Amino acid sequence: MDYKEVLKNAAEIMGPNCKVCPVCNGVACKGKVPGVGGIGTGAAFTNCVEYLSKIKIMMDAVHEDFEADTGVELFGRKFSAPVFVAPIGGMGMNYNGYLTEEQYTRYVVYGALDAGILAFTGDGPSPTYFPDAMAVVRESGGLGIPTVKPWEREKVLDRISAVVDAKTPAFAMDIDSAALVNLRLNGTAAYTKSTEELAEFVQAAQGIPFIVKGVMTADSAERCADAGAYGIVISSHGGRIIQDTLPTISVIKEIRERVGDRLKLFVDGGIRTGADVFKCLALGADAVLIGRPFAIAAHGGGQEGVKVYAEHITFDLKETMRITGCRTLADIKEANIRNLNSF
Ligand SMILES: Cc1cc2nc3c(=O)[nH]c(=O)nc-3n(C[C@H](O)[C@H](O)[C@H](O)COP(=O)(O)O)c2cc1C
Repeated sequence: MDYKEVLKNAAEIMGPNCKVCPVCNGVACKGKVPGVGGIGTGAAFTNCVEYLSKIKIMMDAVHEDFEADTGVELFGRKFSAPVFVAPIGGMGMNYNGYLTEEQYTRYVVYGALDAGILAFTGDGPSPTYFPDAMAVVRESGGLGIPTVKPWEREKVLDRISAVVDAKTPAFAMDIDSAALVNLRLNGTAAYTKSTEELAEFVQAAQGIPFIVKGVMTADSAERCADAGAYGIVISSHGGRIIQDTLPTISVIKEIRERVGDRLKLFVDGGIRTGADVFKCLALGADAVLIGRPFAIAAHGGGQEGVKVYAEHITFDLKETMRITGCRTLADIKEANIRNLNSF
């Protein structure tokens, strides 16, 4: 199965919420929350894609030829590329229920493993969602990154103990879900968390690295570092929380300058190609998460579709590195891009 076939299959079954557009840019789905778009005008999603398109790559073919190495080490493990599957929840509400949560989780966890990367898995208002996702992660030998929503303290600690049992490489909390409309519609409460509360979760995880997802400022990144987090995901939940957030990619640099190497920096939002991954790394990210395109891949090709898309991105990254003279990810620097955005 190739990527074109994955997209063709997905287009046949994914409507009406996702239209499987030639570029997944948030235009056709704008305002669709629940659904797959960004909230309101959809600008927080579409701006991410536009921002990335205005970062240009400095080509350099005057060097000895080589095959670039896209490998990365994180959580003490090696991965084939600095790309992870972002957590996507609510298959019924957001994607018309063609896949169950359990099926979706299975496809992304095993498809990611086949490609030498990992999937973040989700949590949600339904009482079965987190346990079902954890069951797949446990069955895989703990090879997924569970994401816990910022519920009340006891419920979070309960979920962290399931993570500790499964010995996963890391776990995350999508802290920005405190303001997610899907949760409000379901009458389930989620909360913002202080540095002290985050520090308690770090302790409870008994050494399993903690990643705070949904951080958009250098100040809040610093608080995560103070709490002992391993990393953050610079993310605005795919533009689903606030319409007028900055493009996620635009704050990578200032966050890196503030936190130095105290945190691993992951970023998501509109990253669609290996060249996009390259741009994020040039600005200071360690790795990226990709969400909606992996959901399309899972619908169009199941476990194999996820693997095919991951390999497609990795190949594109590898070729971008070769034609810019970057043998390894450490060679990718700001000088390899030109940012034409005005902010
Ligand atoms: C339908 C949908 C459901 C999502 N559900 C979750 C979730 O349960 N937990 C979470 O942390 N992020 C969730 N996200 C956000 C993604 O993890 C990711 O941050 C976002 O989609 C940006 O990446 P993308 O533009 O590559 O999709 C969801 C996004 C979408 C579109």
